[in-house]
Amino acid sequence: MGLATESARAKSLRRFDGQVAIVTGAAQGIGWAIAQRLGSEGAAVLLADLNGEGVHRRAEELEADGTKAAARQVDVGLVADVEGMVGDAVGRWGRLDMLVNNAFPAMEAVTGGAEDVLPEDYDKAMAVLVKASYLGARFGVPHMRHVGGGSIVNISSVHGLLAARGALVYETGKAALIAATRQMAVEYGRDGIRANAIAPGHIATEVIEQDLWDKNPSGRAFFAAQYPVGRVGAPDDIAAAVAFLCSEDAAFITGHTLVVDGGLSVQLQENFGVDQAQYIKARPDTELPY
Ligand SMILES: NC(=O)c1ccc[n+]([C@@H]2O[C@H](COP(=O)([O-])OP(=O)(O)OC[C@H]3O[C@@H](n4cnc5c(N)ncnc54)[C@H](O)[C@@H]3O)[C@@H](O)[C@H]2O)c1
Repeated sequence: MGLATESARAKSLRRFDGQVAIVTGAAQGIGWAIAQRLGSEGAAVLLADLNGEGVHRRAEELEADGTKAAARQVDVGLVADVEGMVGDAVGRWGRLDMLVNNAFPAMEAVTGGAEDVLPEDYDKAMAVLVKASYLGARFGVPHMRHVGGGSIVNISSVHGLLAARGALVYETGKAALIAATRQMAVEYGRDGIRANAIAPGHIATEVIEQDLWDKNPSGRAFFAAQYPVGRVGAPDDIAAAVAFLCSEDAAFITGHTLVVDGGLSVQLQENFGVDQAQYIKARPDTELPY
């Protein structure tokens, strides 16, 4: 490898040296993978989560690996918590470059259609799914503007693009997040601030593996077979997409929703339905997850 290529490679592995990131919902799953990835590429990372104990442990893990990291217990649906979260990152490291809105509320109370969900549960879930991103921008944008720009990444879902039964609140929240992302891109483009969303397909986090798939390997295989690439996603797939969107390589990309779903959502429904029926016919013992 030539010297120039080597130096380009080394640089590309630490695209965020000197920069500061906030990642919400960073105690586990996708948020934890994102925090690790941005940290491994040189960013100082504030890991924010409702689970204070969990997120403190994660920050310690990152620090032990040589990353500048800190943790903060935050409810991203609360104004004062989000203001405090941004102030904490800027107070520690003097700037803010990246804000990743990833936190995910418990969904049990808001599963179902319009008649099933109670108004107070609707409001609580929407505060985390949608309002959190507005609050993050409200308090984070002035600091990004101050350093000449920054990157907001909102973690939406394929559920923000397509609809499923029993998921009114999730579908509405994730679609609204895509709309908010576009608006932020338009609003803050001239400040050098880019806003993008990511729409993941099924991502087998450690919690999903434990709660769903460990006891149902045939269901996991059935899910994997629905993906043109032959597997479901991993948290690192999303972390890599976040790092790309935050990097200079994505300097001309804003207002975009990057679908990271192994091809799940581009399939023609008719053929897809028949493929699934054939899969089950050939493996009648398959245990369906729902
Ligand atoms: N896992 C998937 O298959 C998948 C697919 C598409 C999109 N997503 C999206 O990716 C994101 C992360 O998903 P995940 O599967 O890693 O979730 P997860 O449930 O494993 O982790 C979510 C984290 O958010 C934290 N959290 C919950 N409420 C909070 C609040 N009010 N304030 C701060 N933190 C809070 C939790 O404590 C937890 O650590 C979510 O936005 C989710 O909608 C996930």
